[in-house]
Amino acid sequence: MSALALDGVHVDLDGTPVVRDVSCAVDSGGWLGVIGPNGAGKSTLLRAVAGLLPRRGRVAVDGADTKGLPGRELARLLAFVPQSPILPPDMTVAEYVLLGRTPYLGYLGGPGRHDRAVADNAAEQLDVARFAERRLATLSGGERQRVVLARALAQEPRLILLDEPTSALDIGHQQQVLDLVDDLRRARGLTVVTTLHDLTTAGQYADRLMLMDEGRVRASGRAAEVLTEALISDVYTARVRVALDGGGRPVVTPLRDRAAGSTAEDAAG
Ligand SMILES: Nc1ncnc2c1ncn2[C@@H]1O[C@H](COP(=O)(O)OP(=O)(O)OP(=O)(O)O)[C@@H](O)[C@H]1O
Ligand SMILES: [Mg+2]
Repeated sequence: MSALALDGVHVDLDGTPVVRDVSCAVDSGGWLGVIGPNGAGKSTLLRAVAGLLPRRGRVAVDGADTKGLPGRELARLLAFVPQSPILPPDMTVAEYVLLGRTPYLGYLGGPGRHDRAVADNAAEQLDVARFAERRLATLSGGERQRVVLARALAQEPRLILLDEPTSALDIGHQQQVLDLVDDLRRARGLTVVTTLHDLTTAGQYADRLMLMDEGRVRASGRAAEVLTEALISDVYTARVRVALDGGGRPVVTPLRDRAAGSTAEDAAG
């Protein structure tokens, strides 16, 4: 049984089809990287899977259709980290990460010792525990992004949907966050879906890639099957070279148009 199964998922936004007939399956502990150009429908797909947009088609987590599932139950199954989260500016980091425990709290009870321990651990793992008492408005963009990830991990979901989780992170924190997600899927069987614009990184971490274009699945499979020069140049209208690293993973290098990049000196020489 797949941890996540999409069957014919379709999303209209204001009458415009933005996600069209998307089907895919991700095994428990698997990592699906959703790639594709701006406007391809990646964020819309993730939001629909998270139950935040009306959709047609079937979304099943651990075999159970998520349609009609109460919000609390859905939130124990999956956590969603949006591309540009809106944060309450006056809340502290510790308070915000603790919100991840909301789906586990009784209707009248506040967080208990276990909830605080889980939240503290998530903050520690994302290197934001040292900001615990700071207000969210005072954090840098990358610090904020890590706090939102900490909240999602505090939720202890089966499935985590991360929309461009590393867009604001420096290279060290990018690796730290992606390695942490990778550890969690190996250790706990956490199932991961990310969108990532960096194609090389997407191919290094995800075990399968799904390339979207104009709302549809254009290609899916292992990184080496999807990250080809032909497909990338066609779908992104980009000039790239694809080489394989020592482990056989594709490395995508953008190439500058030589004519456009030449200087007056080159021309004279
Ligand atoms: N309310 C709406 N009505 C019509 N089209 C919309 C609406 N909201 C979003 N769209 C369009 O849907 C398309 C898909 O948007 P989406 O945010 O899913 O793209 P994306 O693949 O995540 O892109 P990016 O790489 O830029 O994050 C875009 O062309 C967007 O302009
Ligand atoms: Mg997006």
